[in-house]
Amino acid sequence: MNKNLIGLDIGTGSVKVATSSGTFSFPSIIARGKSIDIEAKEIVLVGNDALKAEYVKSMAIRTPVYRGAPTSMDDYLDLIRHALDHIINSKDAISVHYSDLVIMAGIPYNAKEHVGKIKEAVIESFGPKFFGVMFQAKATLDHMALQDGIVCHIGHGTTEIMAVSHGKIAYGQTLMHGVGDITNAICSSKTQYVDNEIFLKNTPELANSRKILAANISDSLEKVVIDYPHLKIVFAGGGALVPRLVSEIKNGIIKDVIIAENPVFSNALGMLKRAEKCI
Ligand SMILES: Nc1ncnc2c1ncn2[C@@H]1O[C@H](COP(=O)(O)OP(=O)(O)OP(=O)(O)O)[C@@H](O)[C@H]1O
Ligand SMILES: [Mg+2]
Repeated sequence: MNKNLIGLDIGTGSVKVATSSGTFSFPSIIARGKSIDIEAKEIVLVGNDALKAEYVKSMAIRTPVYRGAPTSMDDYLDLIRHALDHIINSKDAISVHYSDLVIMAGIPYNAKEHVGKIKEAVIESFGPKFFGVMFQAKATLDHMALQDGIVCHIGHGTTEIMAVSHGKIAYGQTLMHGVGDITNAICSSKTQYVDNEIFLKNTPELANSRKILAANISDSLEKVVIDYPHLKIVFAGGGALVPRLVSEIKNGIIKDVIIAENPVFSNALGMLKRAEKCI
C-alpha cells in the first residue's frame, strides 16, 4: 500500500491514525503556555507531552474536540499537525512532505456542518495532495468489508448509531453520550480518563454510570434494530472494550451483536481503506 495514505480519526478522547505502516494514537489534549526563558515564545505540547503539563502552572490544558467536533480550529489543527509530523518523521517516510499526503478523516453524523471549515483549514495549513472527510461509523463497516450493518460506535464523547442498507446510509444518529459519561463520574483529574485501568475497579460510581450509559444507548439502538431487523449489529469504539458495557446494552431486541475487529482503530482503518480509493 502507498505509504502516504492516512486514515485520521480525530476523537473527543484521542486521535487514532492508520497508515500502511500500522496504527498509533495519542490523547486529544493540547497544552499551551509561555516559555520562561525566551519571553513571549509560545510552547505548544500535544498528546502525551501535553498530559505531562497538567500540573505546570504556566500551561493551560485544553481538549479541543467536544462531542466529536472541533471547539478551537487552531487546537484541532495542532492535533492534525502532531499526527502528520509523527508520520513524516518516522523512519518509513523518507522525504515525505505534507503535499504528498492523501488523508481521509472522519466526523460524527451530526457534525456535517463542520466539514466545510475543517477542509478549508486543513488544506490551507498543510496543502495535502488530498483531504477528504467521511462519516466515521461508515468507516467501521468498510474496515470490516461489510456492505450493510448497524454500527454502534461508542466513543468518548459520542455514540454513533448508523444503519447502512444496500450500501447506503439509511439512518444516522449521534448520541451525546459516550464513555466520558463514565469517566466523568469516576475520575478525579482532568486527564485521568486516558488510563484504561480505571475501568477495572468496579466501584458503585462506575457501575451506576455504566448502567445509565448502557440504558441510553439501548434505548436509541433498539429502535433502529426494530426498523432494520435483517442487519448485523456491530459494536465499535473504545466503549466496546469497557468491561460489561456491551453486555449491559444487550436486551431482548439487541441480541446478536459482534464486536468490530480492532474496535478502537476500526474507524481509522476504514478511512485508510477509503483513502486508497482516492488516489
Ligand atoms: N482498551 C481500550 N482501549 C482504548 N479505549 C478504551 C479501552 N477501554 C476503554 N476505553 C475507553 O473508550 C473511550 C472511547 O474511545 P474512542 O477512542 O472510541 O473515543 P473517541 O474517538 O476519542 O471519542 P468520540 O468518537 O466520541 O469523539 C476511551 O476514551 C477510553 O476511555
Ligand atoms: Mg471516535
